[in-house]
Amino acid sequence: MNFDIAVLPGDGVGPDVTDEALRVLDEVGERFGHRFMYKTGLIGGIAIEKSGSALPQQTIDTCRRCDAVLLGAVGGPKWDDPGAATRPEDGLLAIRRELKLFANLRPVKVFRVLEDATSLKPEVVRKVDLMVVRELTGGLYFGRPKKRWSTSRGRRAVDSMTYTEKEIERILRAGFELALARRRRLCSVDKANVLESSRLWRQIAGELAAGYPKVSMDNMLVDACAMRLIRDPSYFDVIVTENMFGDILTDEASMLAGSLGMLPSASLAGIPGGKSSHAFGLYEPIHGSAPDIAGKDLANPIAAILSAGMLLYYSLGLNRESTAVEKAVLQVLEEGYRTKDIMTKGMKQAGTKEMGKLIAGRIKA
Ligand code: IPM
Ligand code: MN
Repeated sequence: MNFDIAVLPGDGVGPDVTDEALRVLDEVGERFGHRFMYKTGLIGGIAIEKSGSALPQQTIDTCRRCDAVLLGAVGGPKWDDPGAATRPEDGLLAIRRELKLFANLRPVKVFRVLEDATSLKPEVVRKVDLMVVRELTGGLYFGRPKKRWSTSRGRRAVDSMTYTEKEIERILRAGFELALARRRRLCSVDKANVLESSRLWRQIAGELAAGYPKVSMDNMLVDACAMRLIRDPSYFDVIVTENMFGDILTDEASMLAGSLGMLPSASLAGIPGGKSSHAFGLYEPIHGSAPDIAGKDLANPIAAILSAGMLLYYSLGLNRESTAVEKAVLQVLEEGYRTKDIMTKGMKQAGTKEMGKLIAGRIKA
């Protein structure tokens, strides 16, 4: 089959790792008889430089015409001035909003062969296989009013945490559906002892749970969840939470896997499972643009490659192909190849390109 994929490499190591993800996708196409057609677009700092906007309209149009979007990373010190009118990150927030990508899936799986790359005890992280479902188009990130101003008594600022019933319900449903396809445990995370939006969240979670008798759901406060993620991470199967809590918890959870360079993500416009098996989505590594190592053949392309693997599964419905990507990554790690960020004694160090080529070389139909 033929598929159109929008490719937005962005800034820093974005282009480095995206190239390797495309290399792997090409190999998947070759082995399984598909054609992936890539349409590149601008986003982030490079888009500000070339077009004045962090997300040019043309990029949005390109994405809308495609089956899925593959993104590298955005941002860098060049554009970090807090007084700047537009920032690269605005492009990321705008694309999430424009494409209605409300469900952000961040799986954290510890590869057995990488157990010693984490700063936690191997026995703590050993069985970790969890998925955070983060609400991505609401909450503090987008709520109005949102502004900074001066008053006679000094400067003030406000951000607003607001959620509608519809927004809460659809993300919780995504959590329940994903749990159904996994170990059937859902942990709904909120701050219901303080926040009204969380009390509504918890109410709706309780109502929905009745419709998913096969899923065992519990509610957890976000601070308790932060602690449990470190003390006993294998407790979790699927975690579902609002935008800001999810942002913070996923950086924390990523450390269970040793390196940010290992973790992919999917941002979906629909609920996986249920009625339709696949949804439009944007796929990106959860690491940032790492400008200090950009263009130096040092970045770990595995998160980008695994993101392409998620794209095959969630947006194109190519499940065998997606599994082939995961297996290829595992095989190369088992053979002892490591990029610098996950390098340990006795292993073979590989650059970005070599890692990409090795993984592409292990793709089998
Ligand atoms: C993420 C990032 C973004 C976020 C930033 C870059 C706007 O941290 O995807 O987790 O906060 O959502
Ligand atoms: Mn983040």
